[in-house]
Amino acid sequence: MKSFAILSSLLLLGAATAQEIQSKPFHLVITQAAKKALNGEQLSACHSGAAIESLCLAGSSGGHFYLNHTKGEEAPIKGDGLPGALIWNLPYNGDLVESEPMSFYSDPSTNVAMPMFMPSYDQQEVFFNKNNIMGIYSYLNDAVTPPTGDTVKVLKNWYVCETYYAAYTYRTLNWVMGNGSQKPQNPSCVKVEVERKFL
Ligand SMILES: *[C@@H]1O[C@H](CO)[C@@H](O)[C@H](O)[C@H]1NC(C)=O
Ligand SMILES: *[C@@H]1O[C@H](CO)[C@@H](O)[C@H](O)[C@H]1NC(C)=O
Repeated sequence: MKSFAILSSLLLLGAATAQEIQSKPFHLVITQAAKKALNGEQLSACHSGAAIESLCLAGSSGGHFYLNHTKGEEAPIKGDGLPGALIWNLPYNGDLVESEPMSFYSDPSTNVAMPMFMPSYDQQEVFFNKNNIMGIYSYLNDAVTPPTGDTVKVLKNWYVCETYYAAYTYRTLNWVMGNGSQKPQNPSCVKVEVERKFL
């Protein structure tokens, strides 16, 4: 208990000293879908548990998202965007909001991970390239022995799938774990890209 309290105050200190810079709000829109009907669908945060939201298809009325990056951070690939936390503001008590970062929820039984917003120190950083397409900078290559971690590459393993989480079944945005050559285990998954459109 005591060490947990110390740990959490250290974490709070860390969070307070690194200055977070927030982007302007944007919509997240499906594009380049392997099933054309999905193109143009916006994403919204949809209730998946207490203060937990997944990213669902929402027709033409999607949510407002933000990218928070830490001051001083640089893009590892010239011309591409800064990595940062994808943010959704959970409204509560009327006009208050909780700034929730996105992290991946993964279940040991599948390679399909679900982006989730929740109050947490965990976050999965993303970035947007010059065409506003969302990707993840990745360094690990364990498809070779010994594994390496010194070369940056861009992954865009986004899929729209029918997912089950805590008794909620939705059509959500997902990430297929791996270096981009792996197929999703969930047969409903459709390959997509995700575009940022500023309001
Ligand atoms: C994102 O940045 C804003 C503006 O600095 C800040 O208020 C908010 O707490 C940040 N969110 C997270 C999860 O760090
Ligand atoms: C990705 O991983 C597979 C093994 O799952 C490997 O065969 C392939 O070469 C890897 N691709 C890259 C670009 O590292």
